[in-house]
Amino acid sequence: MAEHTPFDALQQIAGGYCVSRCLHVVADLGVADFVDAVPRTAQELAKDLGADPDALCRVLRLLAAHGIFDAKGDTFQHSPASRLLRSDHPQSMRAFARMIGLPINWTIYEAMGHSVKTGHPTTEKILPDGYWNYFATHPQEGRVFNEAMEAKAHGQIAGIIASYDFSGFHTIADIGGGRGHLLQAIIDSSPQTSGVLFDLPQVVEEAAGAASSRIKLQPGDFFHDELPRCDAYTAMDIIHDWDDEKALAILKAIRHAAPTSAKLLLLETMVSEAPGPDWAKMLDIHMLVLLGGRQRTLDEYTQLLRKSGFAFRREINTQAGISILEAEAV
Ligand SMILES: C[S@@+](CC[C@H](N)C(=O)[O-])C[C@H]1O[C@@H](n2cnc3c(N)ncnc32)[C@H](O)[C@@H]1O
Repeated sequence: MAEHTPFDALQQIAGGYCVSRCLHVVADLGVADFVDAVPRTAQELAKDLGADPDALCRVLRLLAAHGIFDAKGDTFQHSPASRLLRSDHPQSMRAFARMIGLPINWTIYEAMGHSVKTGHPTTEKILPDGYWNYFATHPQEGRVFNEAMEAKAHGQIAGIIASYDFSGFHTIADIGGGRGHLLQAIIDSSPQTSGVLFDLPQVVEEAAGAASSRIKLQPGDFFHDELPRCDAYTAMDIIHDWDDEKALAILKAIRHAAPTSAKLLLLETMVSEAPGPDWAKMLDIHMLVLLGGRQRTLDEYTQLLRKSGFAFRREINTQAGISILEAEAV
């Protein structure tokens, strides 16, 4: 393979959004659902999808160069990565790719210089009522977001369940639990445990059909409403969404509801010390630009926990790209 020169590196990264955009469009069109074990020509795929054969072929050729689909001439079959784009794959990432590519995210990213200049989320410039309110008032996009959260969590849930014994808890509240995917997996692994799913009303509504008899749905806003009293709390990818002031407000609301000795389990992706590319470093910029949040170090989490009445106990690396930070209400 040719050496990757500084010129190549800049060219690839400067134009990298072209690859991302091809992925978003292919995920939106559902191309992966029309590819199977037998290689298919771009012509055949385009006919099924109502797309232009030449344009589709070029887009798939670029994605295949990045390991998404396997190209042989003008025929395409699945690579392990493109198989994950199928809607029916148990760990499907189609919704995640579609969510990252939502037009609102592109609009916000177009103006991201605002974040770099001010340290504030760019969203404040584009959506004065905030990111979460946008999804509340745009239900179709809200569904894509919630589905995407479920998709990304499915890649992590098996590792979480294997790394922590939840069976000693009587009731666990999942704060900002989305459609309840993590809570459902915990309940399934712990027959004696019940759950409370707490999230915004329009999100909890989406979990209504899926909730089991051992999961109570509690719609609410963690900045304004009382949280449930439980002996354990989970909060997955919640604290990273917020700046320190708001993060503390959420943690204090949990502490206010929690009895002494209750456990709090923060599930967050830690930024690695290694210098190379890392999803957590990219996620950190998404947090800055879209929400004004950040990926934090263990030390930063420990301090937030201490300031809100929790004592940090231990970090458990689930080996699934996410850590469990166990803390206790003191
Ligand atoms: C990044 S998602 C994480 C979802 C889920 N915990 C997971 O990891 O898949 C953040 C969640 O916080 C919820 N959320 C945002 N603001 C909230 C608020 N004020 N009160 C309750 N939930 C909120 C969102 O609806 C969303 O489900």
